Amino acid sequence: MPTFTPLHRDLTFLSPLSEARAARLISFLAEGEPTTVLDVGCGWGELLLRVLEAAPGARGLGLDLDEESLAGAREHAVRRGLADRAGFEARDARVVAGRYDAVTCIGASQIWGTEVEEAQPLDYAAALTALRQLVPHSGRLVYGEGIWSAPPTPAATAPLSGRADEYVAIGALVDLAEAHGFAVVAVHEADLDEWDTFESGFTARYARWLAEHAPDHRDAEEVRGLAARQHASYFGGYRGILGLAYLQLVAV
Ligand SMILES: C[S@@+](CC[C@H](N)C(=O)[O-])C[C@H]1O[C@@H](n2cnc3c(N)ncnc32)[C@H](O)[C@@H]1O
Repeated sequence: MPTFTPLHRDLTFLSPLSEARAARLISFLAEGEPTTVLDVGCGWGELLLRVLEAAPGARGLGLDLDEESLAGAREHAVRRGLADRAGFEARDARVVAGRYDAVTCIGASQIWGTEVEEAQPLDYAAALTALRQLVPHSGRLVYGEGIWSAPPTPAATAPLSGRADEYVAIGALVDLAEAHGFAVVAVHEADLDEWDTFESGFTARYARWLAEHAPDHRDAEEVRGLAARQHASYFGGYRGILGLAYLQLVAV
């Protein structure tokens, strides 16, 4: 398997999230003056670190299973003088207990569903039930969740789970959040520019690898295939159809 540069070299967040939208979500969490912040599926922790910068009285915990991302998170925490307030642990977020004043879960709700390989509909109810247990009354949650932005086509679902019921539309997601003990403060959807930036960041490492290696390198065919598949899945498939909704929620 060829070695690629870490994704955080090409992406600020591991989700379709612009600087402007991130700032809005961070303000929402910081305005609640949290003392404890939890990020489930934190990736390399950029959002959590920014929340801690905006909420100087808070300590944060980021959980993920990916050691490479967590190593990046710890390195960034040290560089930004946040190592004493930010912990990053390789732990399955399904088993986390306790309550946190502010919680973020962005693009990570599959944590509570069935394995991706089982190609089941996303288990929004399981995620919202688990997340509600992590926040006290009036605690804040930023929930970034997959939705259908437009009715799914066969070309869109093919590179995903293959099913039209994998996601729900944004209105149904808002209803689900309300049904699971949250008041909905704000709802926005990632736009196409955020998606294009996200998907481009994903494939930039393949382009870089190909530029740095000879065309007849033994791994070159594999890398060209990875890039082509990703481009076909997105541009020929789910672009504009798979969406991501950002819900700013308060536990009630
Ligand atoms: C799409 S990424 C989002 C990362 C981050 N929230 C962001 O927006 O930049 C989903 C993350 O969830 C993590 N993840 C998946 N299953 C997990 C589990 N059971 N416990 C903790 N993290 C998990 C993955 O390793 C991945 O980093």
